[in-house]
Amino acid sequence: MPQSPSFYVTTPIYYVNDAPHIGHAYTTVAADVLARWHRQRSETVFFLTGTDEHGSKVERSALDAGVTPQEWVDRLVTEEWTPVLETIDAANDDFIRTTSSRHKAGVKKFWSQLRESGYIYEGTYEGPYCVGCEEFKLPGDLIEDAGGGPKLCAIHGRPVELISERNWFFKLSAFSDKLIEHYTRHSEALQPQSAYNEVMSFIKGGLDDISMSRSAANVSWGIPLEWDEEQVVYVWFDALLNYVTAIGYGADPDTPDGKKFAQIWPANVQLVGKDILRFHAIFWPAMLMAAELELPKTVFAHGWLLVGGEKMSKTKLTGIHPSQIVDDFGSDAFRYYFMRAIQFGQDGSFSWEDMAARYQADLANGVGNLASRATAMVNKYCDGVLPEPGNYSNADLALADDLVARIEKADAAMLRLAFSDGLAEIMAFVDALNLYVTEQQPWVLAKDESQTGRLHTILYVICDSLRSIAIALNPTMPKSMKSLWGQLGAQPLLGELADATILSAMERGKLTPGSVVTKGAALFPRIEVPEPAKDSAAE
Ligand code: MSP
Repeated sequence: MPQSPSFYVTTPIYYVNDAPHIGHAYTTVAADVLARWHRQRSETVFFLTGTDEHGSKVERSALDAGVTPQEWVDRLVTEEWTPVLETIDAANDDFIRTTSSRHKAGVKKFWSQLRESGYIYEGTYEGPYCVGCEEFKLPGDLIEDAGGGPKLCAIHGRPVELISERNWFFKLSAFSDKLIEHYTRHSEALQPQSAYNEVMSFIKGGLDDISMSRSAANVSWGIPLEWDEEQVVYVWFDALLNYVTAIGYGADPDTPDGKKFAQIWPANVQLVGKDILRFHAIFWPAMLMAAELELPKTVFAHGWLLVGGEKMSKTKLTGIHPSQIVDDFGSDAFRYYFMRAIQFGQDGSFSWEDMAARYQADLANGVGNLASRATAMVNKYCDGVLPEPGNYSNADLALADDLVARIEKADAAMLRLAFSDGLAEIMAFVDALNLYVTEQQPWVLAKDESQTGRLHTILYVICDSLRSIAIALNPTMPKSMKSLWGQLGAQPLLGELADATILSAMERGKLTPGSVVTKGAALFPRIEVPEPAKDSAAE
C-alpha cells in the first residue's frame, strides 16, 4: 500500500529557564493547528516541540535555587512546560529535551562527524556575549547604555560580557554560495518574503566562521565534545540538532530509529519567531549541508506578540501566562483568537477587549449560536431525530457551492500558513449558513403541515453544513467541535471527528437521516467581560 505523505512540523525548543508566556504558546498553537489540519488531509504527521535546557543561565539559576542543573531543569519541565501543552490543547507527537540521552548522543555524533569531514578547526574567539540570548553579539546587535556603561544587548537591555576563549570553529563561510544558490532555487524555503529578503541580504554580506563550542571552564552545563572534553557544544549548536535527534538521527538505517529518520526527515515546516530566524535560516541549513542531510522544506518566521509596542518577554515582566486567558475563555477561544486576529508572519498586540469582542462576535454569537439554534429546531420540530432531506432547492445548491469554494480556499490558505485567511473563509461560510437560516425561515414552515418536506430538507441542510464546519474548525478548536460533532449525532456513523477529512467537509449529505441530534451545552457560553485590572497587561 502506498504510504500517505508525511508531514513533519516543529516549533523551536523553548528556554526551560523562562516562564512560559503567550508568545511561546503562540508558536506551539500555530504548529498544532497546522499539524491537525494536515492530519485531516490524511497525511502522516509528526509534530515536535520541546525544551532547550543547557547553558550558563540554567546553571546559574540552579545554583541560586540550591539544586543541581539536572534537578532544576527536570522540575521546570514538569511544573512549567509540559502543563502548558495541556492548557493550550496541543497534541504533539513527541517532546524533546536537550538533556535527554538520545539528544546528547546525536549531538556528539553529529559534531564528531563534521570534524572528520574537515568542517571544524580550533581557534580563539573574543567578542561581546549576552547571557540572556546565549549568544555572541555583533556590533549592530548592541545599543549604547544611557549611563555611559558597557554596551547593552538590544533585546534584553542588559550589559553584554566580553568573552575571549579557545573554541572550535565551524566553517560557516564555506556555505555562503551554497546557501544563496539553495534559496535562489527554493524561494519557498524561507517565508514570509520579508524573512527571505532579510536572510538573503545577510548572507550576501558574507558569512564568517563561527565558534561552535565553549570552554567547559566557563559553561559546564552543556554537551562535551567527543574529541575535546574541555569544551562543550555552544547551546545553539546543541539546540538546533533537536529537530533530528528526536526522530532517530544517527541510528543505523536498518533499525526502527533509522527507518523513522528516513521516513520523517526533512521537516516540511519549521516554525520560528523572527528573532531566531538567522539561526534557522543560516546556521542550521549550513550544518545540514555539511552533514550531507536534506534541508527543511520551509522555515517560516512569525512575528512577535507585543505589549506596549515591545516584544512580550519575561525579562521585561510583560509575559502573560497562557492560563490567564484560557481560564476565562477556554483553550479553543485562545487558539482561535491568536490564529484569526494576527496575520501569521506579522507582529500583533493582544488585548483583553479585542479577545472578548472576537469571542462574542465570532464564537458565542457566530458558530455557537448557529449550532444551538439548529439543534434546538431539530428537537422542537423533529423530536431530535435528523429528518430525511427531499429535493434540493436552488438556495440549498448555492449554499453547497459556497461551502466547496470556501473550504478549498481555507485549505489553500492553511497550507501556506495563512491561518487568519483560512479561518476567515470558514467563518464566512458560518455567516452564509446563518443567512440561509434567516432567509429560509424554518419556524414559519413549521406552522404549515404542507411544508413539512421542505422544512425537513432545510433542517437537514443546516445540520449537514454544521458537520462540515465542525470538520474545518476542528484543527483550531478541537474541544468545542468535538462537542458539536456529538450534538449532531455524527459520531456513531462517521467515526471520530479528528479522522474526518477536509475533503469530506466539501461533500454534501454525509449525515445519516435518523441520527439523534441533541441540544447540548452551549459551545461558547457567554462570558463576563474580564475586569479592567487585567487590561494593564494589554497594549
Ligand atoms: N531556545 C531558543 C530556540 C532554540 S530552537 C533550536 C529560543 N527559545 S525562546 O524560548 O526564547 O523562544 C522560543 C520561541 O518563542 C521563538 O520562536 C520566539 O520567537 C517565540 N517567542 C518568544 N517570545 C515571543 C513573543 N513575545 N511573541 C511571539 N513569539 C515569541 O529562542
